[in-house]
Amino acid sequence: MAAKVHITTFGCQMNKLDSELVAGELLGDGFELAEQADAADVVVFNTCSVRQHAENRVLTCLGRLAEQKAQRPGLVAALVGCMAQRQGLELLEQFPALDIVCGPGELHRLGGLIKKVRAGASQQLAVTERLRARRDVPAGLEELDVSRRAAKGFCKAQAYVRVMRGCDKFCSYCIVPSVRGREISRPPRHILDEACRLVEAGCIEITLLGQTVNSYCYGGDGREIRFAELLRKVGAIAGLERLRFVTSYPIDFSEDIFRAMAEVPAVCNYLHLPAQSGSDRILAAMNRPYTAGEYLALIERGRAIVGDLSLAGDFIVGFPGESEQDFEETVRLVRAVGYKNCFIFKYSPRPGTAAAKRLKDDVPAEVKRQRNNELLAVQEEVSLELHRAFIGQTVEVLVEGPSKSARKGRAEHQYQLTGRTRGDHIVVFDAPGRAEQLTGKFAEIKILEASALTLFGELASLA
Ligand code: SAH
Ligand code: SF4
Ligand code: F3S
Repeated sequence: MAAKVHITTFGCQMNKLDSELVAGELLGDGFELAEQADAADVVVFNTCSVRQHAENRVLTCLGRLAEQKAQRPGLVAALVGCMAQRQGLELLEQFPALDIVCGPGELHRLGGLIKKVRAGASQQLAVTERLRARRDVPAGLEELDVSRRAAKGFCKAQAYVRVMRGCDKFCSYCIVPSVRGREISRPPRHILDEACRLVEAGCIEITLLGQTVNSYCYGGDGREIRFAELLRKVGAIAGLERLRFVTSYPIDFSEDIFRAMAEVPAVCNYLHLPAQSGSDRILAAMNRPYTAGEYLALIERGRAIVGDLSLAGDFIVGFPGESEQDFEETVRLVRAVGYKNCFIFKYSPRPGTAAAKRLKDDVPAEVKRQRNNELLAVQEEVSLELHRAFIGQTVEVLVEGPSKSARKGRAEHQYQLTGRTRGDHIVVFDAPGRAEQLTGKFAEIKILEASALTLFGELASLA
């Protein structure tokens, strides 16, 4: 009988995509997928190292492994992703119940490693040696994206497509460059082939992924292709209704990208553009080479070209040396931008990063917590105001499926569905009994109510 694999994914969209591609590859390789971890013969944890909290969640799972293996002889456990690359052998030593540790640059080898362990081999380690020196992408790894096995029979309305790997920005707090390697842009023809095949298989919304997606630059074909051109090429695929991209890096955002956003009908008016701080002093310490003023000017320029631009941001509070005044500048920036939503994080020192080596984590945990809550409250106010303006309007929504509350089986929400507008606003609406009919389709929703996180409405018509 085929071995059943269950994958638990932590971290960012890159990891979600990696998990999907690995799952497709394993399926093609004779494995089956298990819905529940306790029904699996192989459990895979795809991990994130970006904050200590993300690692702690995985460590909790690893802590339970020995007992699970005692109860289920033959169970194979693999830890893949960013923690694997960061800690490698240490993890195998610390957790004897772990069979495989495999970095994000070696994921094409995972199926083989699982088979080896199932055949009786001892612990397997696959991490990329001298990762930051690597300028090439192993053919097998690129093939995971190119073959896109997950797409077959997994025909979904929405998909991620990677445009680049790694990151070269070295924000002083960030672990990503040291676990994901150098920034390497994928060949445009690979990206386009993949996107075309996804659209042929029924996909109508594609999100292009890169840690600094707008820095995309491919020179391998004798001429440089930059992000705006890529966006126009992918946006021209017939049948692709929506095209998004995350995450953008303020410095590399050129006007021609805004123009592509304004001119290509498929490209959505949504931008995830992290500022990280509103204080110029802190931005410099973070090695983010722009000022709050320059960031705001960029957004003004974008709004002038694109028109209605829906923005999401990331902020870190409690970075070393952040004073009350620095924090107030962040609050001011959040109000000035008018983000649709913000992801707010408490600074977490990451071993080996410039900030962890050179700067003392001197903002007390309690102050970090307060600033986190205060900024969340400010953003909530901003979001609510923006959301209220939608009441009475009818918006086009790509339906994603039953809303979370419906999944919990609460009778009053039984038939609530959720979807997103082109600007990435979350919309929850009543559509009794029509979940299957509407999922993956467009619907026109009349907005009746708004909270800071969600718009609520009713089905006006099918698009
Ligand atoms: N490449 C993306 C995001 C990378 S990680 C970008 O540059 O925007 C996602 C977010 O995690 C970052 O935007 C940052 O806000 C946060 N983050 C990264 N390292 C962190 C750390 N050490 N402590 C707290 N938050 C961190
Ligand atoms: Fe990390 Fe900065 Fe790269 Fe984003 S741009 S992944 S925050 S180093
Ligand atoms: Fe985390 Fe790795 Fe993504 S550290 S944020 S999973 S690139």
